[in-house]
Parts: sequence; structure tokens; C-alpha cells
Amino acid sequence: MAGFFITLEGIEGSGKTSQARALQQFLQKSGYPTFLTREPGDTEIGRFIRELLLNPDYTEMEPRTEILLYAADRAQHVSELVRPALSEGKIVISDRYYDSNLAYQGYGRGLDLETVKKINFWAVEELHPDLTILLDLPVQQGLKRARNLALDNLGDRLEREEINFHQRVRQGYLKLAEIWPERIITVDAAASRPEVQRILREIVKERLA
Ligand code: TMP
Repeated sequence: MAGFFITLEGIEGSGKTSQARALQQFLQKSGYPTFLTREPGDTEIGRFIRELLLNPDYTEMEPRTEILLYAADRAQHVSELVRPALSEGKIVISDRYYDSNLAYQGYGRGLDLETVKKINFWAVEELHPDLTILLDLPVQQGLKRARNLALDNLGDRLEREEINFHQRVRQGYLKLAEIWPERIITVDAAASRPEVQRILREIVKERLA
């Protein structure tokens, strides 16, 4: 039995995490076996990598180091959690996947997109999502939400980046949705939380049918 692989993407404060959780609960109640996971940091090795990546003290981190650490987390995540769940026939919902790397390190940091793609496709041994939902909203609105949730009102190392960085990430995501229109569906995340969830459910139900 082959499972179905859904990824949720978006800038800081786009509501991915709560939407992913609500979607999983809905699918579970509808009788589908599901598995909810996230990047970076859902494996034991990944938790260390996440700590390295998001610690605001590591301002000296090279963009190449950053991309390789995210890709290392992803390689572990795919082989330890995602592939086994898919081979058990589950619907896997991942809060972020390689499009985050393309948007943040490719477009955000300005690294060559083809290289970022190659590293990622190699790291995941070409495991591509069946469906990616991009939660899109204006950067100012997202950052406000994200910083309100952060204990220190500043957020992690990435959240502290300048606004232009986040603008490039958002535009990068929208370009990815143009490159892969079959796979990536863009949803307006500025709508209310229940409305966004309703749209997500419709999209997923249609794809699963
Ligand atoms: P989170 O806030 O969704 O837990 O994600 C952690 C941060 O890591 C977020 O700022 C986005 C960033 N990130 C990348 O820059 N590249 C990646 O490949 C991934 C998965 C996340």
C-alpha cells in the first residue's frame, strides 16, 4: 500500500502548525491512518540539528552550513519517519519539507536554486510530496503573529532576519508554486483560521478521492 504525502509550507506566522494539526485530526476522524510530523527536528538526531539551526547566538552561521544542516535533518527525517509511515499506507502530513529549503536558503539567502534542489533531492532520495499546500500571507502580518508567539518577542535565529529576507522567502514560495502548479496549491492564509482549515480539507478530500 502506498501512502499519500502532504507538506505544508509558508512564511513565519502563516499558521502551518495549527492547520496541520487540525487537518490530521480531521483525516483521522474520517478514518484515514495518518502521521503528523515536522521539520526541522522530529527525530532524535534532528532535535540537535534544530537546536544548532535556531539558536539566535549562532549569527556567524554560513548559508552553506545552514542549507546542509537542514538537508541533514531532512535526510534523517525521511528515512527514519516519512518513508516507513508511507509504506504502512499512512497519509503523512509534514509541517515543512524541501520547499522550505528552496524558499529560505535558495531565494532568501540567494543561493543557486539548482544546487539547493540537487542537495535536497539527493538528501531525500527523490521522495517528492504528492501535494504541497502553501499558506500565503503578507510578511508583516506573519511576523507579527510569529513574534507575538515567541517568549522574548524576537523569535529564533531565522525569525530575527530583516524584513527583506522574509519578503524574498515569500516571493520565492510563490515562484515555486508557479514552477510546480500541479503539486503546490496556494491558499490565502490571511483568512480566518476556520476558513483556511475548510479550504485545506476541500483540497485534500479532492486529491484523495
Ligand atoms: P518552524 O518555525 O516552522 O519550526 O521552522 C523553523 C525555521 O527554520 C523557520 O524559520 C524556517 C526555517 N527553515 C529553513 O530556513 N529551511 C528549511 O529547510 C526548513 C525546514 C526550515
